[in-house]
Order: sequence, then structure tokens, then C-alpha cells
Amino acid sequence: MGKLVIFSVAIAAFSVLLGERLLNMSKRYLAFREVGNQHLPNCVALKNIEHGSEDITILGNGLAFISSGLNYPGLPPSDEPGKIFLLDVKGPQLKPVELRISRNFDLESFNPHGISVFTDPSDDTVYLFVVNHPQFGSQIEIFKYVEEGASLVHLKTIKHELLHSVNDITAVGVESFFATNDHYFSNNLLKTLEILLLMPWTNVVYYSPNEVKVVSEGYHFANGINMSPDQRHIYVANIFNHSVEVLERKEDNTLTPVKSVPVGSLCDNIEVDSETGDLWLGCHINAKKLFLFDPKDPPGSEVIRIQNILSDQPVITQVYTDDGHVLMGSSVAAVYGEKLLIGTVFHKALCCDLK
Ligand SMILES: *[C@@H]1O[C@H](CO)[C@@H](O)[C@H](O)[C@H]1NC(C)=O
Ligand SMILES: *[C@@H]1O[C@H](CO)[C@@H](O)[C@H](O)[C@H]1NC(C)=O
Repeated sequence: MGKLVIFSVAIAAFSVLLGERLLNMSKRYLAFREVGNQHLPNCVALKNIEHGSEDITILGNGLAFISSGLNYPGLPPSDEPGKIFLLDVKGPQLKPVELRISRNFDLESFNPHGISVFTDPSDDTVYLFVVNHPQFGSQIEIFKYVEEGASLVHLKTIKHELLHSVNDITAVGVESFFATNDHYFSNNLLKTLEILLLMPWTNVVYYSPNEVKVVSEGYHFANGINMSPDQRHIYVANIFNHSVEVLERKEDNTLTPVKSVPVGSLCDNIEVDSETGDLWLGCHINAKKLFLFDPKDPPGSEVIRIQNILSDQPVITQVYTDDGHVLMGSSVAAVYGEKLLIGTVFHKALCCDLK
């Protein structure tokens, strides 16, 4: 009899714990969040982009790089190999062209994720950094962009044990960058467990040819990363904490936390307007809908802008939302003048007018 009581109590306790865990998880996933539509004028889908546009970054001259074809565990797969597109946002026809990639690079296994551009101040050479997951591994590719023939010349692959689950990068030199790891474990089974537990175990790594080090940690799945125009602050999307972390970059490239800005959404990539310093975030409304993908109840899209992030009162504005019937799973938002590009993990990309 006694044993049965103890057993029942144990089961009850376990159920409470499991229930609490599920409740915690649904809070982290914003599993019950629904948002209405708040559209922008003149949105058109970019031609040629059907298999995602996970990350987008726009140069000062209006040329946008777009990474497409990401395969990420747990999300709808792309049956096309990865590609990098280039779009002239100033141009009359919004038609991205696929950049040719030099022959020394394995295109078959190309699985591009976060991207970042570094323009060398000494000769204006444009370097494109791409997080790549061939066979679900993790490495960084550095390409040189060549305008004639719209191509990318592959220069280097960077692998390092600290760069084990890279999601996004922000380049700070010809061969140096900050990177986010979105998992703590490298083993696939443990990774799956991790996405259910969502512990604050992930980090930011600084990489240069001379030094590689963890410079910040304690993130609930560190996601997008970018830098202020004066290069003194680093911004990290702490996606399952529904916040953006602001860090100060020291001389030795260590980072010290400045503040955490709650955004109430699951923000993915961060783009920074080079003129205003505003942050533009592509966010997920509800992670349950993203992971348990159902085309009849699709995951939506949300774009958030943060102005004056370093001030005491940052202004957070929801600029665009869609319930998923126009655009599913937005992961990035980038502005050029009055144009806003919105990219997605596995769906299309839109170009909208801000006014
Ligand atoms: C649920 O979240 C609360 C507050 O964040 C935490 O104290 C608690 O340990 C969590 N419970 C479980 C079972 O993870
Ligand atoms: C989560 O976000 C809140 C609000 O922005 C912040 O106070 C807290 O430090 C963050 N937690 C972690 C682990 O980053």
C-alpha cells in the first residue's frame, strides 16, 4: 500500500514538473501568440526566390546579397542546393541574379545561413562571409565579390571547435568576425533535446587568424548578430529570451554586456541602418507554428525596428506583420532608402515601400 502511495505521489510530482516544463516551453516558443496583419504598401515578391532568403545584407550602393536554400534541422527542407543572389535595390526590376561561384568550391553541399559583408577600406574590395552547413556541419566561407560577371571567388573555409553551431556572423576584418552559436551541443540527438529545454547555454565567439575565444555567453539560442555603424557595440538576438542584447566591444574584442532590450517576439537576424543606426529585425511570431509546420495554419512574419537603442528609452516599432498567408517565417529585414526587403527561412522574399 505504502509503495503505491509513494509511486502515485512520484507520478503526480513528475506530471506537475512535466506540465510546468511544457508551460515554460510554450512561453519560450510564444506558442499561443497570434498577430493580425499589418501590411505595407506595394509589396512584391522577388523573382527567382522560392527556397528561402534566410539572410540579406545591403551595401551602401544598394546592392543586396541574399542567402537562399537553407536546410536546417526541424524546419521544412529546401530541395534546391544553396545559392547566393544579388539584387540591385535601386534598379527598376526587382530581379535577383544568382551569383556564380568559383569552381574551387563545392556547390552540391552548399547550405548557406547567416551572411555578412566586409568592405576593405584600403581598396574597397567586398568580402562576403557565409555561414555554411555542409552535411549539417558548421563552417565559415569567405568569398571575394567580383562585379564583372557577377561572381564570388572562394578564398577560404574556416573551421574551429569553438565555431561548432554557427548561426550568424558579423565581419570586422578581412579574416575576422564575431559569430553566434545557436546550440551548446554538437551531437544531433542532444541538439534536439536542447531545442526542447532551451537553456541559456549558447555563446558568441570572436575569430581572427591569431586568436579565437568565447566573448559572451548565457543566451537562450543566440541567433542574429550585427554591429553599430561606429563598430563599438555588438547586438545579439537572444531569440528564445525574446530580447536583443547590447554589448560593448573592447579593444581586445572582448564584449561587456550593456543592456537587454525586450522585444516580445522571436527575433532572428539583425540588420543595422548605416545612416541612422536603427536595428531592423526579422522575427518569428510563434515558434510552435514554425517547427510544427502546417501549411493550413502557417507560421507568420513580423518586422520590428528599434530606434535609439543605446538611449534610456529605445523606440520599438512593429513595422510589418503577416499571418503567414502572404509571407511565412520571416528571418531578416533590411532597408535601403524607402525600400524594405523581408527575407524568410524557407519561403519567398518581399520588397515593400516603407511609406
Ligand atoms: C519554469 O520556469 C521557472 C521560471 O523561469 C523556473 O523557475 C522553473 O524551474 C522552470 N520549471 C521547469 C520544470 O523547467
Ligand atoms: C532575458 O531578457 C530579459 C529582458 O530583456 C533580461 O532582463 C534578461 O537578462 C535576459 N536573460 C538572459 C538569460 O539573457
